[in-house]
Amino acid sequence: SSIDMEIGALDKGDYDYFMLKEIHEQPKTIEETFRGRLQNNYSEIVLGGLLNVFPKLEAARRIVIIGCGTSWHAGLIAEYLFEEYAQVSVEVEYASEFRYRKPVLSSQDVVILISQSGETADTLAALELAKSKGATAIGICNVVGSSLARETEAGVYTHAGVEIGVASTKAFTAQVTVLTMIALKLAKRKGTISGEDYKMLVKELAEVPEKGRAILADGEKIKNIAEKYQKAVNALYLGRGYLFPVALEGALKLKEISYIHAEGYAAGEMKHGPIALVDNNLPVVVVAPQDDYYEKVVSNIQEVKARKGNVIAIVTEGDKGVKELVNDSIEIPKSHPAVAPLLAVIPLQLMAYHIALLKGCNVDQPRNLAKSVTVE
Ligand code: G6P
Repeated sequence: SSIDMEIGALDKGDYDYFMLKEIHEQPKTIEETFRGRLQNNYSEIVLGGLLNVFPKLEAARRIVIIGCGTSWHAGLIAEYLFEEYAQVSVEVEYASEFRYRKPVLSSQDVVILISQSGETADTLAALELAKSKGATAIGICNVVGSSLARETEAGVYTHAGVEIGVASTKAFTAQVTVLTMIALKLAKRKGTISGEDYKMLVKELAEVPEKGRAILADGEKIKNIAEKYQKAVNALYLGRGYLFPVALEGALKLKEISYIHAEGYAAGEMKHGPIALVDNNLPVVVVAPQDDYYEKVVSNIQEVKARKGNVIAIVTEGDKGVKELVNDSIEIPKSHPAVAPLLAVIPLQLMAYHIALLKGCNVDQPRNLAKSVTVE
């Protein structure tokens, strides 16, 4: 019956907290999200919910992506993806700001609204505003039949399953999975990506769940790191490119559930402010895999170390260069930079979880926060 199903969905299973369960579910929920959408032996993307609006997406003068909290971070990753592969200009907006601005929008613009719940008041108000200006509205949400799903012209569900933890984890990676599929499919249709790169990236996406499982299997190590930094008062998270939004998301996870003040920054912006905070009490989490930014991120790490900061780095499996510079490191499997956010965020979620738990915080229901913000 549906009641049994609901109770089943609310079962923590072998886990102490929903958040930990949901972090561990991610390889499966990412798979659920691309199931039936990566077709022909993972060589083609099919998004049935967008068939009607793809012509509008292809012709779009601009794509505006709107969300709040973690959903906004997913939108920031999409900005990099859409620009790089589909060669379209993108803006990412907080729904709470967008709804009260006087945005210049027309029927040539496409608005993508991202919301796990599909019920966030600001996001729904932004949707109404976009529609009133004649823009095409696409929804990405997790809750089937939600207001966002009902009131948009087209959309894609994330299929992450019920998310109970207030701090979003599996809904985020499902959103990023959907946005990656949209960006690649759009690029394919526009002819802005080569057939070879398209195939290679679809394959990279399909390989994420397996790589995610490897990170989770090694998750216990993160507990030891959490023990070292649980007393921190502040924390800084740095990343570049696709991993800048991941730095923001890592900082948000930590502050939401452990109440440690944490800020995410684009690593290149560090010298414009946050570097003033670096001392031997400040943990600095640097997302530093071996990508095109590697050398630049290494020099950011050296700048932090020179000021006695404690660096915890997320590195590519087998990396030596960063490892010997930093206090602690967590390895993630090698991947293409465009899908790296889906992997790099997992250790940051786990670190926030373990620190919050050690501090005795209620990880599933942090103080003052709500799962779904349905009032302004
Ligand atoms: C609240 C939740 C966050 C979530 C945000 C947006 O702040 O605590 O986890 O990211 O709302 O929610 P939505 O349902 O629109 O994605």
